Amino acid sequence: MMTVRVGLGNRGYAIDIGPCSRALLRECNKSASGTRQVVVIADRAVARLHLADLLTYLPQDSLVLTFAPGERSKSLRVVGRLFDQLAEARIERGAVIVTLGGGVAGDLGGFVAATWLRGVPFIQVPTTLLAAVDASVGGKTGVNLPAGKNLVGAFHQPEAVIVDTNFIKTLKYREFVSGLAESVKQAVVRDAGFFDWHRSQADAIVEREPKVISELIARNCTLKAAIVEQDEREAGLRAVLNYGHTIGHAIEHLLEYELRHGECVGLGMLVENEIAVARGMLGRGTADAIRDLLQRFRLPAGLPRALAAEDVCAACRVDKKVRAGAIGFMLVSGLGAPCRVADVTNAEIAAALRVVQPR
Ligand SMILES: NC(=O)c1ccc[n+]([C@@H]2O[C@H](COP(=O)([O-])OP(=O)(O)OC[C@H]3O[C@@H](n4cnc5c(N)ncnc54)[C@H](O)[C@@H]3O)[C@@H](O)[C@H]2O)c1
Ligand SMILES: [Zn+2]
Repeated sequence: MMTVRVGLGNRGYAIDIGPCSRALLRECNKSASGTRQVVVIADRAVARLHLADLLTYLPQDSLVLTFAPGERSKSLRVVGRLFDQLAEARIERGAVIVTLGGGVAGDLGGFVAATWLRGVPFIQVPTTLLAAVDASVGGKTGVNLPAGKNLVGAFHQPEAVIVDTNFIKTLKYREFVSGLAESVKQAVVRDAGFFDWHRSQADAIVEREPKVISELIARNCTLKAAIVEQDEREAGLRAVLNYGHTIGHAIEHLLEYELRHGECVGLGMLVENEIAVARGMLGRGTADAIRDLLQRFRLPAGLPRALAAEDVCAACRVDKKVRAGAIGFMLVSGLGAPCRVADVTNAEIAAALRVVQPR
């Protein structure tokens, strides 16, 4: 078992990585009166695979609420249904919510926890690599509106995060590498040594060797925790994690979610690196090393279909990180060297986009 602490004073918490049994029992028995009422909010597909296992470590009277897998469940409609179910079961302040699933379960269940009775504690059990390395650290919760992603939400730190690496084994390969793209992103912006570690451990990573996956998750959580500790509410530093995301989000949106988020972030890094290389900020060798690593993980090297450059530019502009019309990018000038650039032009984007267009 490895533990990473997120140091946020009285909102701090531990991320336990390893078999989840003991950690879960300990967390559920934390209240003064002994056991607490436990409500599990679970992705239905994950529940089918792993709920029985989880329930053996939870009180017998735990209430289990499920939702259909997929991004569409991150909606006010599903939140409303979950509220009704909590009301019907008379769930009180002393209860704890356990979210089981990927980033959708964490964001949706975390938002319910943040708002039910003005906030109850919650424990995240992330079951995708993306959620384990990224979404479950930092307390961002929320849902989508028809007008856009993550428009409604709250910062609500979990009481604990418990990552059972056994759960990661049942992920489809595409879901798995989608998480790996975020891991590469985090290494590129924050830790050159961790980037090299990905290269040296690439085979073991792809084979999902439990020890290597635990280390990968722990190192990511440590990096993200350090950022969250300095910038809990995303006032500044946390923006370095947007590397690969301005183009990535645009591609994700234009392809109508045909590719997974991490796959789009991988493509976003390729395009954004080209912008940096063309500006003379980033060496070709580093850009190639990043591309080679992404390809070793069999992340997409190109778009499944051509996208018009003007559509990509327009989509970058509607990204909510755009302030006052200028397209701000978080580029890198080397491994571990993020660099904010405020004035990227449409022509630069169009030129860089060619590297990922289908030939
Ligand atoms: N809060 C944050 O800081 C943050 C950060 C990044 C992403 N996110 C959010 O996370 C979401 C994406 O998360 P995701 O990629 O985990 O998606 P997801 O939760 O939809 O999970 C992806 C798919 O994998 C399946 N799955 C999950 N765990 C599994 C397992 N162990 N075995 C087999 N199948 C499993 C799910 O049923 C689903 O179909 C987005 O909504 C995004 O906005 C939030
Ligand atoms: Zn991301």
